[in-house]
Amino acid sequence: RIPLPPPYRIKVVEPIPFLSPQQRREAITAAGYNPFNLRADQITVDLLSDSGTGASSAAQEAAAALGDESYAGARSFFRFRDAAAELTGYPYLLPVHQGRAGERVLFANLLRPGQICISNTHFDTTHANVEMAGAEARDLPCREAADLDSLEPFKGNIDLDALERTLAGPDGSRVGLVLMTITNNGLGAQPVSMANLEAVAAICRRYSTPFFLDAARFAENAWLVRQKEDGYQDLTPQQIATRAFELADGCLISLKKDGLTAIGGLIGLRDEELFGRCEANLIATEGFTTYGGLAGRDLERLAQGLREVVDPAYLSSRAEQTARFARMINEAGVDTVQPAGIHALYLNAGRLLPHLSPGEFPGHSLVCQLYLDGGIRSAELGSLYLGALDADHRVVTPAPFELVRLAIPRRVYTEEHFAYVAAVLGAIAKNPERIRGYRIASAPERLRHFKVRLEPL
Ligand code: F0G
Repeated sequence: RIPLPPPYRIKVVEPIPFLSPQQRREAITAAGYNPFNLRADQITVDLLSDSGTGASSAAQEAAAALGDESYAGARSFFRFRDAAAELTGYPYLLPVHQGRAGERVLFANLLRPGQICISNTHFDTTHANVEMAGAEARDLPCREAADLDSLEPFKGNIDLDALERTLAGPDGSRVGLVLMTITNNGLGAQPVSMANLEAVAAICRRYSTPFFLDAARFAENAWLVRQKEDGYQDLTPQQIATRAFELADGCLISLKKDGLTAIGGLIGLRDEELFGRCEANLIATEGFTTYGGLAGRDLERLAQGLREVVDPAYLSSRAEQTARFARMINEAGVDTVQPAGIHALYLNAGRLLPHLSPGEFPGHSLVCQLYLDGGIRSAELGSLYLGALDADHRVVTPAPFELVRLAIPRRVYTEEHFAYVAAVLGAIAKNPERIRGYRIASAPERLRHFKVRLEPL
């Protein structure tokens, strides 16, 4: 079978800069060795995030021109609502400006202080918003997720036994929410199976516990289900996604991913009373019910993006692009979390740089080297992000793995960009011993990775 090319061609382009090695060294030093402090015009290939970084389509831009900016009841809201209702099936839909705004509004009205939110894995802002509501965020990933090399198809699943044990045990009455993240961004972009979601729904029903989806990558999860799970080959990605939403009591979606837009989010609900409370909160903090912090033109782009993202030709091409990128990287001598997901690849930096201890932040060292050698921006997911530190910023409890995430913006980079990144990684893998570790110079209390500053050892 001859692989098909992407189902789109490029119409508008944006230049990317190529700095000299000396300029890159100066830039990363001035940034305190934190890629969040780099300027976009210092970066050649930006794989920091797949969020809000995708390319818009001609149809989305045409729709944006029709944006209705009325304060209340804008036509654009109804077009957005119809697309979101068709996809999710939820009767109550609230637009928000991005995912974490939805988290704040929902948790403030659903979770009480002292309660527990259980997830396959909370995303970092989700975790922070659960804590800011006074509740505890508890991750119960399935056991297969701990083996980075295993080819198990659904390593994003929740551990069903652990979930049931928690609900039946002494903490059971404190569980206020079960939130399934699809796909599991915190754990290697691994998908969640429909069987796992069905089992979670059944358990939650038995214990009368609300069950929600954090569905930022609902279309990509649906595509992986269609490829890997028996019984879904004949359904469309949209039908599979709709089936997933049907199983839950509601959803949070950051639409900056599978909404194919730069900004946007959604709260979907079945419960009218909860909707009323969330709506009051939304109006006070985000905006009126029919725009929720978004412009009419954003709502238009979203209404169109939600239809484009479930196109099988698009999803197939994106999944194959990531799979090819993974093969290039693996052939260049760097291991990635297996199997490859869709929105990002996770490099096993701990294995590539065994001469660095977790306290020397091997993942972060690789992030810096990718920038120094190739102007490539990526993100550490290791002890710098997740480890427990003492007052002198020394690692007390390391993260379970030292990973680096290469997030893949939608419809943005071509095969040559990925080949370039793989080549830079290949050169690093030929002589990894030369790479030195880092130590923390200063760090904030919460959400450390965004503002931390480091120094090379
Ligand atoms: N949930 C998941 C699973 C996410 O991946 C994100 C964001 C959010 C919620 C929050 O949404 O950014 O719109 O407020 N993930 C981005 C990332 C930032 O790079 O993975 P947001």
